This record gives sequence, C-alpha cells and structure tokens, in this order.
Amino acid sequence: MNMHDSDRMGEVLSAHGWVPTDGPQNADLVVFNTCSVREKAEHKLHSELGKMGVLKAKHPELVIAVAGCVAQQEGQALLKRSELLDLVIGPDNIAELPRLVLEQRAGALPLSYTVFDDAAPRFLAAYPKAGEAPISAFVTTMKGCDERCSFCVVPYTRGSERYRQTGEIIAEARRWVEAGAKEIVLLGQTVDSFQDPALPPPASDDPDESQFPHLLREIVAQVPGLLRLRYTSPHPRHLTPSLIQAHAELVVLAAHVHMPVQSGSNRVLKRMIRRYTREEYLARVNALKAARSGLTLATDIIVGFPGETDEDFEDTLSLMRLANFTAVYAFKYSVRPLTPARKLADDVSDAVKAERLARVLDLCDELQAAHLQTLVGTTCHVILEGLSKSDKTRVSGRTERNEIVHIPAPEGDVYGMLAEVKIVAAYKRSMSGEWVGPAPVGATGPVRSYLRAGKALPVIAAGKHS
Ligand code: 5AD
Repeated sequence: MNMHDSDRMGEVLSAHGWVPTDGPQNADLVVFNTCSVREKAEHKLHSELGKMGVLKAKHPELVIAVAGCVAQQEGQALLKRSELLDLVIGPDNIAELPRLVLEQRAGALPLSYTVFDDAAPRFLAAYPKAGEAPISAFVTTMKGCDERCSFCVVPYTRGSERYRQTGEIIAEARRWVEAGAKEIVLLGQTVDSFQDPALPPPASDDPDESQFPHLLREIVAQVPGLLRLRYTSPHPRHLTPSLIQAHAELVVLAAHVHMPVQSGSNRVLKRMIRRYTREEYLARVNALKAARSGLTLATDIIVGFPGETDEDFEDTLSLMRLANFTAVYAFKYSVRPLTPARKLADDVSDAVKAERLARVLDLCDELQAAHLQTLVGTTCHVILEGLSKSDKTRVSGRTERNEIVHIPAPEGDVYGMLAEVKIVAAYKRSMSGEWVGPAPVGATGPVRSYLRAGKALPVIAAGKHS
C-alpha cells in the first residue's frame, strides 16, 4: 500500500514539474512516506529524519515532508518533535502535496495537514505510459478499514472504509494492461469487503457478503489481455460461498490467496477481535481449496500477542500445518497507539517472541519446500518476467500459484509471455523448469473462465459506471 502511495506521490509531483533526483543530497524536496503498522517501521522514520540535519544546514530551502500513516497518527506532534520538518501530510491529502510544498518554499510556517476525505473520497488514478508498466501492477479498490482488530492501528491512520467506483477500477486496470502489465493485484485494507451500488446486490443477506465477487467478474469480463488477477489483503470474514464460487469460475484468478489468520488459537483470536474461530477459518479455506484445485495459501501471523501462552502458540503451529501455508509474513506483536490492545499488558517477553517467530518461519520453510517438491514433474503456467538475477542464461517468472520458476532462456522475446513450463527440480524457495511452449490461448483468459462458469458472466452496461 505504501509503495503504491509513493508511486502516486511521484506522479502528482511530476505533473507539477518536479523530477526525481538520485538521492537526497541533490534534492529540493524529500518526502518520507511512512508506515506505522508496527513499531519498528515507525522507529525507522525517526532515525532517517535525524540524518537530514546536515543536508538542511547546507541547503536551507530544502523542504522535508512526512507522509503516510505516521503523519496521520502523529500530525502536529511530529512538527513539535523535529525542527527539521516542514510538512506533515496524511494519506488522503496526497493531491495537495505540490501546492503545500510550494507554500513551504515561499516561506509558510510548518504545517500539518491530515484530513480524511470521507465526504468525497478520492482515489488518485494511475496513467502509465506504454511500455513502462511492470508485469504486475497494483490497482486500489478501497481504502480504510471498518474492522476493529485490537492490535491494529490501520482504522485510525487510514480512516473508515471507502470504495472506488467499479468503472474507475476497470478503466485503470485496462490502462495498465494496455501499457504492458499482465497481472493486476487489487489493493485494499479489507479488499474483499467491496461495495458499489452500480453492481448487482450481494449474493445473500449475510452481513459478511460483499460485492467483491461481482467486481472480480467485471474485471475478468472487461479487461481484455489480463493474464492473471490477484488481490490483497482480504479479511477471512468475507470469504463467503460467493467469493469461493468466483474462484471456481474465474481461471484468471491466481490459484493463490493471501488470507491473514493472525493466530491459530481461539482464545487469542477472540482477544484480537478477529470475528472468526480457528474452525471457521479452516472450513472456509478448505472450501476455497476444494473449489480451485491446487490453490495455495499465504498468511500473516502475529506472535506474542498479550496473554499468548505456549499452548496458544502451539495452536498457531498446528493451524499452519492444517492450512498448509506456503508463505507466511510473521511479526512480533508490538503495542500501537490508539489500538484497543494497548490496554493489555504486553506480557510476552521479547526473547519468547523471537523464539516463536523463528519457529513460525522454520515451519513455513518446511511447508514451502515440501509443497514445491510435490510440483516436480507437473506443468505450470508461468508469466515470464525477465532474466534471472543470479544467472543471465535463465529467465524467471511466476506460476499461477505465485511460485518463482527459473528456466533456460528460450529464443526470442518472451518478456510477459504466458508459458507452459515443466517443473524439473524444486529447491527451498524456488523451482527450475523446462520450456514447453506458449500456453494455449485462453489457458487462463476470460474465454475459458466463461466456459467453465457454464453461464453468461454478468456484464454491466458501460454507461452505468460513469
Ligand atoms: N504488532 C505486530 N504485527 C502487527 N500487524 C498489524 N498490527 C500489528 C502489531 N501491532 C501485522 C498483522 C497484519 C500485518 C500487515 O501486520 O499481521 O496483517
């Protein structure tokens, strides 16, 4: 999300005549885009800001700004804490950045501007140039979060949920694909809670239902040339039968889902206010795996949440095996300001957190390596991304499950091609394969998904979106 916001900031500044420099020493403006989801990220800002003193002494007109979640969370307090700082700007105020920077250059007093755009939500659109798109491009579909997970600062730094219009999302996805992207990753804090009055109503009255499955179908139907569609990060609550059905129908959807679980202990899940049990999580992801054969799961796990006992932690390890996660982002719990859990004693020692973190990561390595071994001898559909970093005679790419594969470089320009690759060997985190040929037309395209669905996809008249 932050990388994506940084790109939008770059675009907004470029549109006002700013050009990137190769480092802060030559800059007239330095923007620190910040994350505050964990304490470590926030510490980084303060050590980086400290380094700016020398530059500012040499170049007093240099404008230094802090953007992102720490800006939203701290506001004015940041200005008080650092005399070097000129501007503090919230995630919803990026469009104002060029104007506010000019005001600072003209001598305005240091300013904190952190206003949520609830009344008229704005999503900065990307306009990529032809040939300059990455293979995989992010498209924002929503921002903010209405969950109240007790450990998480996001509702307070990103505000309440606001959804982008389906028509805008499709238009941007098309622009990326026309500019050369092959994969779109939909981006939102609870990406699967999507709502848009222009779409058909949710599949049922279940409050966990959203219109996200409809959005997925619309994108597949209306973005020609899209080879793969992913999304991050969903909340397991919205992994409803209709979303599972979308995975069964739409082959363009990657056979890999990142579904944060946070803990495998019901006691901890309750204190985290995650609103599902271990059993519900497993039932849902098992239904998803049954709907799309070969589908793999990644997750987020927090270790050392207040009150987490050895037994609770063992429940997390056992859930990791049951769900067979092939990728895990694991974090030591850290207290965040404004969150409900800040009132709970942070009673798991750092040594225990570190040990639990290491055990989660070891188990993840074990599960991933075992999973990759099962793929040897199979044929995968790989989007080829470019020469391998370590061996220039090989190209690398990602399978439909997002695994990294290296193959001997075939003849001709294969950048961005969807290839059939036979897996010949598996390692700890990647695989090597042999080129079979281009994947058959429609192998993962909308046409096949249409046929698989066995019924017409609901395509909404273009006018409705405008
Ligand atoms: N401490 C540790 N990890 C956290 N995360 C969110 N808040 C905290 C916290 N206070 C992790 C969660 C989330 C990911 C983005 O960061 O696992 O899914």
